[in-house]
Amino acid sequence: MNVYDSGKIAACLVRLGYQQTGMLEIADLVIVNTCTIRAKAEQKAFSFLGRLARLKTKKPGLIIGVGGCVAQQEGEKILRRVPQVDLVFGTQAIERLSLLIPKIEDKRCRIVDVGLMEKPDLPDAVPDRLIDDPVSAFVTIMRGCDNFCTYCVVPHVRGREASRHPDRIIKEIGDLVQSGVKEVTLLGQNVNSYGKKEGLCSFANLLSRVNSIDGLLRIRFTTSHPKDFGSDVIKAFKTYEKVCDHIHLPVQSGSDRILDRMNRKYTRALYLDKISELRDNCSAIAITSDIIVGFPGETEADFAETLDLINTIQFDGLFAFVYSDRPNAPAVHFKNKISEDEKRKRLQAVLALQENVTRMKNQALVGSVQPILVEGVSQKQSSGRCKRPLTTAQWTGRTPTNKIVNFYHTDSRQRRADIFPGKIVRTRIEEAYAHSLWGEPVGLKSTTGGLKGEESYAA
Ligand code: 5AD
Ligand code: SF4
Repeated sequence: MNVYDSGKIAACLVRLGYQQTGMLEIADLVIVNTCTIRAKAEQKAFSFLGRLARLKTKKPGLIIGVGGCVAQQEGEKILRRVPQVDLVFGTQAIERLSLLIPKIEDKRCRIVDVGLMEKPDLPDAVPDRLIDDPVSAFVTIMRGCDNFCTYCVVPHVRGREASRHPDRIIKEIGDLVQSGVKEVTLLGQNVNSYGKKEGLCSFANLLSRVNSIDGLLRIRFTTSHPKDFGSDVIKAFKTYEKVCDHIHLPVQSGSDRILDRMNRKYTRALYLDKISELRDNCSAIAITSDIIVGFPGETEADFAETLDLINTIQFDGLFAFVYSDRPNAPAVHFKNKISEDEKRKRLQAVLALQENVTRMKNQALVGSVQPILVEGVSQKQSSGRCKRPLTTAQWTGRTPTNKIVNFYHTDSRQRRADIFPGKIVRTRIEEAYAHSLWGEPVGLKSTTGGLKGEESYAA
């Protein structure tokens, strides 16, 4: 969501006459778009602001802005903590940036704009934004959250849930496809409740409309909440050919007692039922999830239930986090906090268990042929660290199940048109690593057999 918002911020700055630069030292204005979901994200934002503050002592004309969720949460406290900051703007103030920045330029005043409306008027024009990725784009379909999980800061910094009108979403995706985008990821804190409050169409209906956009190849969406994840969306994986076989369905804990204390409003049994229904409906589906370890009061027995759930489900991938207190989230006041040491131990146990599962899942794909949507040259190649001759491109892309596949392809003059970002390339999976797969394109004559495995791609 921050990537999406950053694109809007960048477009606004371009309209004001700014140009993008990758060199911090020469920038006249820097906006830090922050996240506060966990304590670590907030710490990172402040340490980066410290770096900018030092830069400003050398370059006093530098304008520093702080946006996003830390800005929303801390407001003018940021001006006191980092006196070099000129602008603090909250999650609902992005649309006002084009007014705020000229004021700072003219008057060199300091501004804080962090109002959060109960009923935000979504500026529902199709947003003007810069995108870095020519193939795959995020599209926000709704903002805010009404769920109030007890550990979570989101409802307090992003406000109440509000959905965009489907016509605007379809227009935005149509424009992106016109500009060459092949894949969209629909974004919301809880996409399964899309449109309910406003009486717009259901999320499954929205998927059906997006599915019929010509030229679009793939649809992804995140995040789904198990309590609202209904059969109509489960069926969409089968019915709509562009909806990718991957679902991110955060479970957070395997213990009913902890799920209740988290205010998640579902049980372990209900979550397992959803997984069965998904797999019955679409056997190839990849399932990923989020886990929080060390929630206040989580006993050894509760944690054992989480490990057991991970073992039972065999996720394709997991994001695991140690619990951290967040401002205004009710769990701050919960008793029986778990020590940092114990939380780290539990995190390691989850990661070790999942690593084996992921390896086995990746290994099971070896020998299969997968359609890869090519995203570009792999990071190793683009950062100049690849030892292959320049005539050989190392490409990267993803399977519909969201697994990263790297492969070589000779970039000779005659074959240059064979592979390019945005193309779907059928690739036979040859090797599996912890976080990626190695493949060999099939049906393309100019591939370079036998080169794989010379470097290690395991993360
Ligand atoms: N502590 C740790 N993890 C958290 N998450 C959200 N809030 C917290 C917190 N206070 C995790 C959840 C969520 C993901 C985006 O971040 O797992 O699904
Ligand atoms: Fe936070 Fe829960 Fe809303 Fe997700 S559903 S954003 S975890 S309150």
